[in-house]
Amino acid sequence: MTEALEIRNLHVAIEDNEILKGVDLVVKQGEIHALMGPNGTGKSTLAKALLGHPDYEITAGEILFKGENIIEMDVDERARLGMFLAFQYPVAIPGVSVANFLRTAINAHRKAADPEDKGISIPDFRTLLKAKMDLLEMDHQFAGRYLNEGFSGGEKKRAEILQLATLEPAIAILDETDSGLDIDALRIVADGVNSLAGPDLGVLIITHYQRILNYIKPDFVHIMLDGRVAESGGPDLAEHLEEHGYNWLREKQSKATAG
Ligand SMILES: Nc1ncnc2c1ncn2[C@@H]1O[C@H](COP(=O)(O)OP(=O)(O)OP(=O)(O)O)[C@@H](O)[C@H]1O
Ligand SMILES: [Mg+2]
Repeated sequence: MTEALEIRNLHVAIEDNEILKGVDLVVKQGEIHALMGPNGTGKSTLAKALLGHPDYEITAGEILFKGENIIEMDVDERARLGMFLAFQYPVAIPGVSVANFLRTAINAHRKAADPEDKGISIPDFRTLLKAKMDLLEMDHQFAGRYLNEGFSGGEKKRAEILQLATLEPAIAILDETDSGLDIDALRIVADGVNSLAGPDLGVLIITHYQRILNYIKPDFVHIMLDGRVAESGGPDLAEHLEEHGYNWLREKQSKATAG
């Protein structure tokens, strides 16, 4: 069965300031969606609301995942259901290797699904991790590094993509608006998404860098303006943006409001 993340008329406020003003978006397994838009239009706010960040108050609308309303769920419950948010664990964890971190994450998911689960065995985990690292063409040594400690931007992205590969979520939300993202880091994310794309994975990649779309071919492109998805289309929409910027859309929107 194909599962979906469905965002319906979502309104989100931060300290009584309405930032999202009715977002509608559906991402299904097997689809790659790119969400673009100028700075400050609410893209990261959407990602944080999907994550369940406590500062972001949902004032109206729904977020359904696998048909369940997830608004009241905490971030762990959302993750166990099969939602992956790239910036879930951005902190450095001293003394915890990438491999140990991933094994703990897998075991937490398994235990949530079945309280009797004894966790993945070390040999099975090694086999799984190796297979995923080979799929992503990663050096196996990377698994022994301490999580985020002294990681470059690219290495952080590599850890993120490896986490995505091992957790096998139904829907992944990647907020790539980080201005520290250099071209190498961008490629790591793009290559990772391309290697992992398939019928079981749905991706919502958020970016204001058109450049990433030179490497990832999304099935759908959405543009957010002023807290709403103002336009949706295919990959040609990203090309149109590259050529014309966002002003045509602003004009179109103000004409629609005026008329
Ligand atoms: N924690 C916060 N407190 C107050 N205002 C916030 C907070 N987070 C976001 N905002 C405001 O909400 C609006 C949308 O910000 P958001 O970060 O969602 O934009 P964005 O589309 O992700 O931009 P960018 O392309 O620069 O990443 C901005 O006006 C921002 O100042
Ligand atoms: Mg942002």
